[in-house]
Amino acid sequence: MIAIACDHAAVELKNEIKALLTEMGEEYCDFGTDTSASCDYPMFAARAAKAVADGTCEKGIVICGTGIGISIAANKVHGIRCALCGDPLSAQLTRQHNNANMLAMGARIIGAELAKAIVKAFLTTPFEGGRHQRRVDLITKLEQEQVIE
Ligand code: RB5
Repeated sequence: MIAIACDHAAVELKNEIKALLTEMGEEYCDFGTDTSASCDYPMFAARAAKAVADGTCEKGIVICGTGIGISIAANKVHGIRCALCGDPLSAQLTRQHNNANMLAMGARIIGAELAKAIVKAFLTTPFEGGRHQRRVDLITKLEQEQVIE
């Protein structure tokens, strides 16, 4: 199950991504927003991120105008590693190296075809583990304890 959410700047792109998820055979849970009425992206980031953090959803996709605000907000939820990506290679590498569990994109920055390629890379690339696991563990320690050393 994929959590998906957006603000008013990204409803159209979110709908395209939802169609792609269906094509890919992925189930999703849409946490809004559904209209172009101005809204506050942290609310929607929080709903999707909590569903990923508590295990209801395996991964999440959040989209706002730039992808910046909604990724910052998602990353405030403990257990979330949300990567803002503007290209498929970054999406592939953030899965391989960071075990990112959420993807953010900017609807005012990238087009729909690029966004779809990014989503495909994000959802089909496994975490590599190994030395990367140690680094992800350090991120978790920093999140929990606010210091690493
Ligand atoms: C909304 O106008 C815009 O600020 C939002 O979509 C996003 O770009 C924030 O980071």
